[in-house]
Amino acid sequence: MSLEKDKIDQLAKQYDKADPTEILALALEKYDSIAISFSGAEDVVLVDMAARLLGKKVKVFSLDTGRLHSQTYRFLDQVKQRYDIEFELLFPEAKAVETLVNEKGFFSFRMDGHKECCQARKVAPLRRKLNTLDAWVTGQRRDQSPDTRAAVPVVQEDFAFSTPRHLLVKFNPLANWSSEQVWNYIQEHNVPYNELHRHGFISIGCEPCTRPVLPNEHERNGRWWWEETEGKECGLHPVKAA
Ligand code: ADX
Ligand code: SF4
Repeated sequence: MSLEKDKIDQLAKQYDKADPTEILALALEKYDSIAISFSGAEDVVLVDMAARLLGKKVKVFSLDTGRLHSQTYRFLDQVKQRYDIEFELLFPEAKAVETLVNEKGFFSFRMDGHKECCQARKVAPLRRKLNTLDAWVTGQRRDQSPDTRAAVPVVQEDFAFSTPRHLLVKFNPLANWSSEQVWNYIQEHNVPYNELHRHGFISIGCEPCTRPVLPNEHERNGRWWWEETEGKECGLHPVKAA
């Protein structure tokens, strides 16, 4: 099964305020060729919700950029052991990383921005994976970034990774949840979490590009803090020009 283009916007409206589990259930019912994209942060709630939905074994993948924190690697292992899921780790193309690091060093992103490194370590492996799927599920939420995510729908056509011959659908079941709701869920359901969250980290990405934030500081300030706000997307979730 799959969704027609015109049905996507209709469902986005219909499910806009729905509970994430309902949105996830819809996604898994409509698609067989679907996987959850798990970053190793609080989007673990999606894995927990999906594992509770009976019916089929859920596919989960994570992009190992080679630059994650040790705590995140330990957490990925923990999630793999805890849940009955098909868990796949995706790596960047060796040649692309070799070329980048040999030409520009390990910290090129501090000098000329994170886009080039993110393209090699995240976007290209993601594209390779998404070419094999009809739909994917992300942990994006509207409250994660007032600048780039305030209007994230619960389901959308993925205009960045669809091709003229392949319509890719992106589900964002947590779009209408707040950080507080996510953390209530983690506590109520005894869901494991990345130990970095105990040390002031909220949004977690690669180690050199993530830092803890102060109380009341926005979580996005902990990512690529040396760059301007509008650049703080790595290419997994580009914002469509108006
Ligand atoms: S990012 O684009 O700035 O890196 P963010 O960390 O907010 O994204 O995560 C938003 C969602 O993107 C996650 O819930 C997850 O679905 C997906 N995502 C981000 N990083 C990864 C990763 N390394 N592996 C798999 N999915 C990821
Ligand atoms: Fe490279 Fe930083 Fe992007 Fe990770 S977040 S892929 S280290 S630029």
